[in-house]
Amino acid sequence: MQHQVVQIPLPVLILIASLILYIFIPIIHSRSTIEPCSSSDSCTSLLHYILPYDSKLSEIAYRFQVNISDILGANNLNPKSLGNEIYEAKSALKVPISCSCVDGIRRYTTATYAVRAADTTDSISEGFGGLVSAEQIETSNGINATNPLISGQSLVIPLPCTCFGNVNNGIPTIYMSYVVKIEDNLASIATEFGTTNKELEAINGLGQPVVNPGDIVSIPISASNCIKCVCGTQDLK
Ligand SMILES: *[C@@H]1O[C@H](CO)[C@@H](O)[C@H](O)[C@H]1NC(C)=O
Ligand SMILES: *[C@@H]1O[C@H](CO)[C@@H](O)[C@H](O)[C@H]1NC(C)=O
Repeated sequence: MQHQVVQIPLPVLILIASLILYIFIPIIHSRSTIEPCSSSDSCTSLLHYILPYDSKLSEIAYRFQVNISDILGANNLNPKSLGNEIYEAKSALKVPISCSCVDGIRRYTTATYAVRAADTTDSISEGFGGLVSAEQIETSNGINATNPLISGQSLVIPLPCTCFGNVNNGIPTIYMSYVVKIEDNLASIATEFGTTNKELEAINGLGQPVVNPGDIVSIPISASNCIKCVCGTQDLK
């Protein structure tokens, strides 16, 4: 008895392989809450920063181009050694920033980064706690295959911020940009920051009460919940 070998033409094989890849490799698009703006004013906002590695407060202040005293104030920290103590990787800090209006969108564009030899846009994104994606760093700085990162180059780091008029339901509010962690869900975030699913859904324009790791959501922090949320050097005497 003769066996008949069925030959599948190569182009058909490639097509089938591509389809399988297309279906099983999810295309990940993190969402980020965007606030359109028209004027060139700026307003107070916060970044929720999880330290990617052990850092001194002075290094964090430098990374985000803010004053150490403002970070101390936003976190109710005692300014004992003025920024020389080391904060451990995975600690969370609120970083107060002045949120501007750039090209019709609220953004913080004051932070810059000096590229070091071993850096990739992924490692730089990680250094900023995922508040900016590698792709956003590339787009903002014209980085691509023909224009790669160069050691010593200074990059603009665009960071997401929102203000929404610094009010929520008539209550003075500061909004904080938060990167969703793997273990988070909307309810756990709401509980942690004293808000509700409904509020987070409304503020972030979520169609469903679902957030995914890497998404950046705006969390309302009632100004009365954090009297010292933002303070200047003069408050630290
Ligand atoms: C930091 O503090 C100095 C002096 O108080 C002030 O002039 C400067 O504008 C502050 N910088 C920021 C980013 O707030
Ligand atoms: C890389 O970016 C530069 C501008 O920054 C542009 O002129 C060039 O066409 C880009 N190259 C590729 C391959 O996209």
